[in-house]
Amino acid sequence: MATLLPLLVFLSIIFNPATARLQSKEESFISAGISEKGLNFVKDLLIEKAVKTLTPLRLPDIEKNVKIPVVGGVHMAASNITLLSIDVSSSTAQPGESGIAIVASGATANLSMDWRYSYRTWLVPVEISDEGGAFVQVEGLEVGLTVSMDNQNGILELTVMECGCYVKDMVISLDGVASWFYQGFVNAFEDQIRSAVESAITKNIIKGALKLDSLLQTLPKEIHVDDDVALNATVINDPLFGNSSVELDINGLFVSYEKVSAPSYLHKYSQSSISCGEALKMLWISLDEAVFNSASMVYFQAGLMHWIVDKVPDQSLLNTASWKFIIPQLYRKYPNDDMLLNISLTSPPVIRITPQNIGSIIFSDMIVHVLDAGESIPVACISLVVSVSGVVEISGNNLTGRAELDDFTLNLKWSKVGNFHMYLIQGVMRVFLNTVFVPYVNMHLKQGFPLPIIHGFTLQNASIFTSSSNMVVCSDVAYTNFSGAVHSSF
Ligand SMILES: *[C@@H]1O[C@H](CO)[C@@H](O)[C@H](O)[C@H]1NC(C)=O
Ligand SMILES: *[C@@H]1O[C@H](CO)[C@@H](O)[C@H](O)[C@H]1NC(C)=O
Ligand SMILES: *[C@@H]1O[C@H](CO)[C@@H](O)[C@H](O)[C@H]1NC(C)=O
Ligand SMILES: *[C@@H]1O[C@H](CO)[C@@H](O)[C@H](O)[C@H]1NC(C)=O
Ligand SMILES: *[C@@H]1O[C@H](CO)[C@@H](O)[C@H](O)[C@H]1NC(C)=O
Ligand SMILES: *[C@@H]1O[C@H](CO)[C@@H](O)[C@H](O)[C@H]1NC(C)=O
Ligand SMILES: *[C@@H]1O[C@H](CO)[C@@H](O)[C@H](O)[C@H]1NC(C)=O
Ligand SMILES: *[C@@H]1O[C@H](CO)[C@@H](O)[C@H](O)[C@H]1NC(C)=O
Repeated sequence: MATLLPLLVFLSIIFNPATARLQSKEESFISAGISEKGLNFVKDLLIEKAVKTLTPLRLPDIEKNVKIPVVGGVHMAASNITLLSIDVSSSTAQPGESGIAIVASGATANLSMDWRYSYRTWLVPVEISDEGGAFVQVEGLEVGLTVSMDNQNGILELTVMECGCYVKDMVISLDGVASWFYQGFVNAFEDQIRSAVESAITKNIIKGALKLDSLLQTLPKEIHVDDDVALNATVINDPLFGNSSVELDINGLFVSYEKVSAPSYLHKYSQSSISCGEALKMLWISLDEAVFNSASMVYFQAGLMHWIVDKVPDQSLLNTASWKFIIPQLYRKYPNDDMLLNISLTSPPVIRITPQNIGSIIFSDMIVHVLDAGESIPVACISLVVSVSGVVEISGNNLTGRAELDDFTLNLKWSKVGNFHMYLIQGVMRVFLNTVFVPYVNMHLKQGFPLPIIHGFTLQNASIFTSSSNMVVCSDVAYTNFSGAVHSSF
């Protein structure tokens, strides 16, 4: 611990003095935070990757002419110096003003190398030489890395602010050599091996961090949802580094691929405090109600909220014969004709999040068509207002949902087959909504949309909390793989 302290002090002074967080005019509708537990998870993952890429590692050869008492000038060389293994026993990840410091301390490492020497003396006219192998045990290896992260045009940029490596102690073993050589070799080479190890580790960690930066650069500004819409993942503001957590804000609204017009009239309703309660999770993702309403708007604007129903569980209901007594004119005009329903939403469903649930009121027009002599004839239009409420769930990295029918009202807008009372079709309508309408809505909600999670990580054991106009997903994550292109590099 005593040797770790200077390194920590050194790392902490390079954090910028408290700078005010750059606030942009743009609003963020999705925020994500990584807790101390999450930071430790990522740190362990990075250290594991770093150790994998660092071993084995070939260090530069060293050659020297060394003056040995009695013997005289001796040419010595260490070659094929190879870092074989590193064992990190403890490490920390500490957020600061503008970045994160990762410190691995008390690590040990093993190296192997070949040694060689040669010299001439006036005693013997030929060159005397020998060679063999050696083993080096490094103890008290400390590595510190400080990276800062900031927002560069909506993308996170990672910069290495400081990287250092310190070898406290090393034991060089050369078996079966004369003690004059052993001592001479250690005296002449120890410091150089030490600094070779220190600089090789530093160099490679910086290289790894830069690869991590290129991974961040590949994160898309828009997350593809389907052929029509995407989620705007543009980073807003610089990441906020807390005492033990990091917070990141993204735009978070749905955008349509066709019409670039963002629904600018959406605003964050409340700045409700984000809380995962007692749950100690690696990360939280907070979604404002506006995220869901933007989805609703872009799908509506894309003209995707139309639906033709020509199949129902009780198919006889889609024949005028079934309506003989309720709507006599319909049957008289179009006896025994099949029917279909053309349902169109008349406005984007408004989604409301409350501490209890998520609900929506769906305004739609249902045009009843009769299929007569190969023609589709609209005969009546019923305005249908359906209120649903539901729960949200996590499936993979998708936020999905399930809705249930709460209530509905019917109104006859126009009719070519005379007036008929809505209360007469109320019962049939309830069955229809429960067996056709709600299952259809759920079929779409079931797939959900992907949450902004870095490729290779999957949510585990997530729980969802709702508050007024806001929802928080609290979850642990598991690592599966970095994205293909950069997988091998870090
Ligand atoms: C160099 O050292 C490594 C690790 O000990 C060993 O696998 C490799 O064979 C050595 N190379 C030569 C050329 O001796
Ligand atoms: C280094 O080698 C020693 C002896 O073979 C072994 O006990 C130790 O676990 C090794 N350390 C690492 C970091 O591999
Ligand atoms: C962060 O730590 C500082 C000093 O330890 C403390 O004064 C401050 O209240 C902490 N802030 C938060 C948000 O915990
Ligand atoms: C995505 O969000 C950014 C930041 O809020 C905004 O500048 C940009 O216009 C948005 N993109 C679209 C397509 O709406
Ligand atoms: C269904 O209704 C919508 C809106 O009234 C209309 O634009 C569309 O053409 C209709 N589709 C069919 C197949 O009648
Ligand atoms: C997640 O959502 C996307 C886009 O809607 C979809 O393509 C994908 O199949 C979904 N994945 C899961 C596990 O539901
Ligand atoms: C999931 O989280 C709950 C509470 O946070 C915990 O009790 C449970 O053991 C966790 N399950 C797994 C598989 O981690
Ligand atoms: C990780 O991704 C790479 C490239 O796509 C693939 O070759 C490799 O098998 C994957 N590894 C795992 C454990 O999924």
